[in-house]
Amino acid sequence: MIQSAVSIEYTKDTTDLFILKHKDLDVAMMKMDVRTGMIEYVLSVYLPEELPAGCAPDGTGLGEWWKLRAIPDSRKGIRQVLSRLSEATSQSLMLSSYGLSLTDHYWIQPVGQELYWKDLNFYENNFEDELGDILTDSERDRSVPDGISKLSPSVSVNGDMKKKWIIRGGRRYLLKVNPNYHSQQTVNEVIAGKLHERLGWKNYVSYDMGTIYISGRGYPCSLSPMFTSAETEFVSAYQIVADYKVPNDVSLYEALIRQAVSLGADEQEVRAFLEYMILTDFILTNTDRHLNNFGFLYDPQQHRLSGMAPLFDTGNSLFYDYDVIPHGGNLLDIPVNSFSKREADQLHYVKSDAGVKLERLAHFPQEAEALLKEYTDMTDERAAETARTIEEKIEYLNLFFQGKKIWKKERYW
Ligand SMILES: Nc1ncnc2c1ncn2[C@@H]1O[C@H](COP(=O)(O)OP(=O)(O)OP(=O)(O)O)[C@@H](O)[C@H]1O
Ligand SMILES: [Mg+2]
Repeated sequence: MIQSAVSIEYTKDTTDLFILKHKDLDVAMMKMDVRTGMIEYVLSVYLPEELPAGCAPDGTGLGEWWKLRAIPDSRKGIRQVLSRLSEATSQSLMLSSYGLSLTDHYWIQPVGQELYWKDLNFYENNFEDELGDILTDSERDRSVPDGISKLSPSVSVNGDMKKKWIIRGGRRYLLKVNPNYHSQQTVNEVIAGKLHERLGWKNYVSYDMGTIYISGRGYPCSLSPMFTSAETEFVSAYQIVADYKVPNDVSLYEALIRQAVSLGADEQEVRAFLEYMILTDFILTNTDRHLNNFGFLYDPQQHRLSGMAPLFDTGNSLFYDYDVIPHGGNLLDIPVNSFSKREADQLHYVKSDAGVKLERLAHFPQEAEALLKEYTDMTDERAAETARTIEEKIEYLNLFFQGKKIWKKERYW
C-alpha cells in the first residue's frame, strides 16, 4: 500500500555513529564523517549475510559501495547543485536522505534515533522530489527554495546523465535527460528497445520518450519503469567483482561469471545474457557497457542473485558523440569501456548466436533511421549514415556467425 509522503527530516551533527540498515535489520555500526558523508570505518558487523553483495564479512568494501551509490563528480552541474544545497559532497547529500534509494533496500540510521523502513522507504511512500527537479535543471540560475526537503531517491542513483525518479500512475520511473548531442542518447534507448523487440528478447528495460522543461525549454527525456521493487534489489556486475582478486589466468569475463554463480546465479542464464548483450551492443556500437551498466537481481530473503537485471542504459551508442561516423574496417576498431578495450575483441567471448537471429533485423536499420530523424534534430544525412553503420555491423556479425575471425580485420576487405 502506498503511504503518505516521507516526511521525517534528518538533522546532521547529532552523532557520527550510524547503523547500516537492510530494511529493519541492523547490519553494521559505522563511523561516518558527516561533513563529507564518507564511511570512515566499520566498528562492528552484526549480520554479515545482510551486507551488500560483494562486501567481505568484516565490512570491507562498504565504503566503495556507498560511494558508488552516490551521484558521481563527473555528472554535469552536480557541483553547483551541491553548493546551493550547502552539501560538501554527493555522499553527504545521500546521507541527508538517510541513504535511501530505489535500487536496493539499504539505508542509514543515526544512532539514537528509532526509525522504521515502512515510514521511510520510497517504494511504498510517495515522494514529491523537488530536489530531483533541481538535479535535472541545474543550469537554471535560481536559489534553492527555503526548507526544501533533501529526502529524495534521486540523490542515491549513479550515472553521468542528469536524472530523477518520478511517480506516474502509481508506478516509479527513472527519468534521464541530456540535451547535448541532439538528445540522441534518449532516442538510442528507444532504438535499443526496438532491436530487442525484433529479436524476441524479453529481459530489457523499455524506455519511453517524454519531454522535460529545463529553463522553460522542452527537451526529450527517457522514462524507464523501475525494475527493482520492495522485494528485489539490483546488484551491479561491478559490485560483485570489485573486491575479487581475479586470478592471472582468468579473464574478467570468466571471473564475473564465477562470482555470480558463487552468489547463486544460474551459469547458463548468465552466459546467455552476456553473449546477447555483447552481440546487441555490437550492432548498436554501444561504447559504454561498463560494469555498472548491467547486473543482477538480488533476492534478499534468500540471500542470492535471483536472475539477470533487464538490459538498460544503451544510450551511449550509435556514434552519438562522434564528429565523423566511421564505416568499413574502422567499425572494427571502436574503443569501448567494457570487457575489452576494442569492441570487436569482445566477440571472443561469444560462443553462440544467443538468439540474435540476423534475418529478423532486415528492416531494423531503416526503423532506427526513422526514429533518429523524427526525434533528434540531426541532419537527415547523419541519420542515414548512422543507420548504415547498423547495416554494416549486421553484415560483420553474419561473417562472425559463419566462423570468421572478424577482429583480424585485414582479411575481410
Ligand atoms: N529502470 C530502472 N530501475 C531501477 N534502477 C535503475 C533503472 N535504470 C537505472 N537504474 C539504476 O540507476 C543507475 C544509473 O542509470 P543509468 O545507467 O541508466 O544512468 P546513466 O547516467 O546513463 O549512466 P552512465 O554514467 O553509465 O551513462 C543504474 O546503474 C542502476 O543502478
Ligand atoms: Mg549507466
